[in-house]
Amino acid sequence: MAFYSNYKNVLVDKKDGITTVTLNRPEKRNAMSPDLDEEMLDCILNLEADAETLVVVLTGAGPAWCAGMDLKLYFRELEGDPANAAKHVRTEWATHQWRWHRLYNFPKPTIAMVNGFCFGGAFTQLVACDFAIAANSATFGLSEVNWGVIPGGLVSKAFNAAVNYRDALYYSITGKPFQGPEAVRMGLINESVPDERLHDEVMILARQLASLNPEAVRATKQAIKATREMTIEQAHEYLIAKNGQLSHRDREGGYYQGISKFIDAKAYRPGLEPYPRDKADNV
Ligand code: COA
Repeated sequence: MAFYSNYKNVLVDKKDGITTVTLNRPEKRNAMSPDLDEEMLDCILNLEADAETLVVVLTGAGPAWCAGMDLKLYFRELEGDPANAAKHVRTEWATHQWRWHRLYNFPKPTIAMVNGFCFGGAFTQLVACDFAIAANSATFGLSEVNWGVIPGGLVSKAFNAAVNYRDALYYSITGKPFQGPEAVRMGLINESVPDERLHDEVMILARQLASLNPEAVRATKQAIKATREMTIEQAHEYLIAKNGQLSHRDREGGYYQGISKFIDAKAYRPGLEPYPRDKADNV
């Protein structure tokens, strides 16, 4: 039986190496409940080790990507009740694990396919994903100020890491919503596309990522993420060691094969290879 067959809040669909994970509480705009967080943690852990999964796409059912933490189940019922203290600790751990720790460090590429509302706590998994493509109409907002709380968990830190200082302050302090094109301008997402193109554009990127050497992709994303917090000297040492680890792990021998194809066979020029947009119609 598939690991996800008993999930009630998360859908998993696997096709050609691309696994689409859908938060599935559309009636609550995919707000994160304690049960959803437990299922997502289980899901992410399983997908890390799943040989059939080369790329993960994270999206939401219905009109929302994710409306943040469930204000009723989390803030009012769980956080506010001393009788739930142990469950609160467990859930805090699960939500942090899947939305940041496991997702940010996920060994394969991840794409946020932002189909609609993205609010509050959802910014954590948005930034944790390696790529983000949104529908032009998707609405983003750090609405915490309206509830008398700060963008907590890791939201402030993640938002700060993704956008410039002025935008971080402006949008978190005002709580003002913004759409896909503005999210691109501030560097929060890669691309904003017409709503009807969202799925196809994400699949074009996902297929391209799935066709790359998985070990080289894994090491590259680790290199970019890890060196953000390092000094120049630490980064230099780390990158030498990381390259050594990559050539040890890479069973395809991508380094030797790629250079040989370029220098000896003259059969490959990565700098000239067109982006495979022609596949768009076949999605
Ligand atoms: N927590 C709990 N429930 C939520 C929720 C959240 N974060 N976001 C939406 N819901 C629930 C609503 O209470 C409503 O439940 P009901 O049908 O039992 O009344 C249902 O989802 C649909 O929401 P509704 O507001 O009617 O949908 P909409 O499409 O008109 O608006 C939003 C969608 C996302 C703009 C709006 O629901 C909203 O502003 N939600 C709050 C988002 C937020 O501030 N999140 C940050 C939390 S820190």
